[in-house]
Amino acid sequence: MSRSATDLRDLRHELAGALRQARDRTLALVTPLDDDELHDQPIDFLSPLVWDVGHIACIEELWLVRELTGRPSSDPARDELYDAFENPRWVRGELPLLPRQEALTYLADVREEALRVLRDTELAHDAPLLAEGRVHRMIAQHESQHQETMLQALALRRGGHYLPDQEAPPPLLRPVDDTDRVEIPGGPVTIGTDDTRWTYDNERPAHRVEVAGFALDRFPVTARRYAAFIADGGYVRPELWSERGWEWRQEAGHEAPQGWEPAADRGWRRRRFGQLEPVDPREPVQHVSYLEAEAFARWAGGRLPTEIEWEKAAGWDPVRRRSRRFPWGDAAPTPERANVGMHRFGPQPVGSFPAGASAYGVEQLAGDVYEWTGSPFTGYPGFLAFPYRGYSEVFFGGDYRVLRGASWAVPAPFTRVTYRNWDRPYRRQIFAGLRVAYDLPR
Ligand code: AVJ
Ligand code: FE
Repeated sequence: MSRSATDLRDLRHELAGALRQARDRTLALVTPLDDDELHDQPIDFLSPLVWDVGHIACIEELWLVRELTGRPSSDPARDELYDAFENPRWVRGELPLLPRQEALTYLADVREEALRVLRDTELAHDAPLLAEGRVHRMIAQHESQHQETMLQALALRRGGHYLPDQEAPPPLLRPVDDTDRVEIPGGPVTIGTDDTRWTYDNERPAHRVEVAGFALDRFPVTARRYAAFIADGGYVRPELWSERGWEWRQEAGHEAPQGWEPAADRGWRRRRFGQLEPVDPREPVQHVSYLEAEAFARWAGGRLPTEIEWEKAAGWDPVRRRSRRFPWGDAAPTPERANVGMHRFGPQPVGSFPAGASAYGVEQLAGDVYEWTGSPFTGYPGFLAFPYRGYSEVFFGGDYRVLRGASWAVPAPFTRVTYRNWDRPYRRQIFAGLRVAYDLPR
């Protein structure tokens, strides 16, 4: 299995391109912000943005320079500062972080070195980290995941508004019934993947699962439906909540999704990225916790789907009996298929993406908002940690629920139906909404 020189050149070119695209987005996010904004910690479980910048550099040095060359760290004390396990999010505001310019220099220096290593390294087929550019793809993706945490902090800001250029075409306003459901018949499916190029360890291995029939909302739950839940006493009726959910609801005092404020006309306004605007009733609801999602689903007469049900509805092709990479097939996302890639700084109205429907006709499964599932985060049968236990394995069995899909912020190349995100059940800073599943009458 030897690769031709041309193949290798193409692969190097592709990997350098993926890294460059990730970096362009990081710099585009950070450039408009002043020093205070970069060092600000809006809530104690989100990092100051300047921590994310240093962390991106530190992790890149670890995997694309040190691991591939055996060279020692350029600065062990700095590694400790940017180690996510050493420094939980709530202490990051107190750390002696590199100031803006030094953090950006660190980022640029590591990149220069990483590209030099990429140019000089044999991308050996049998070296697990290097085959097909795995570790380079992982690092490009890691950078984009931290762009999302930076965006979560920016979404909460109270000062002037932060909305970089919007490049997307206007939404397609196709009138749809936002309570429409799709029936997914029972039967065996393949869950997960054996692809090693763009996936994390927790998506592997591919395995067969028998799934009973169920129904699923055709669209993510809209702000209109969510407002109806609130108006019907959703936040004051304990019987709709789990015991834990109700305790949390009382303690946290929430009465609506993050950022929502009552408007004069009895409707809702929402604050995001420092901008106050009316809630569009057709948009997928965003910034709800798992505990709120669970209460909504009960109110709607259903439940949250399991992650297996979600993946079946999103990726299974019942005619060809195989799974697709994206809901619509294997072709890359386009603006007609999905709202991904940070072109907009929020979800799009339901009905905007008929071309992105899955084989079963379920829409907006990739892009817009991540969707809470009822599943705790665990490893698939035969799971093998790669390349380090700290990405997935240390979180298995903890207090986490799995989210599926992709938010509007996920870059197109990283979108896929097998991706598994996870967070604590009470967190709502992530770009997450939900979709309701229903048992079939038997
Ligand atoms: C997969 C989004 C839960 O942000 O904690 C970033 C991604 N892992 N750096 C996280 C991640 C290491 C992870 N999530
Ligand atoms: Fe990280």
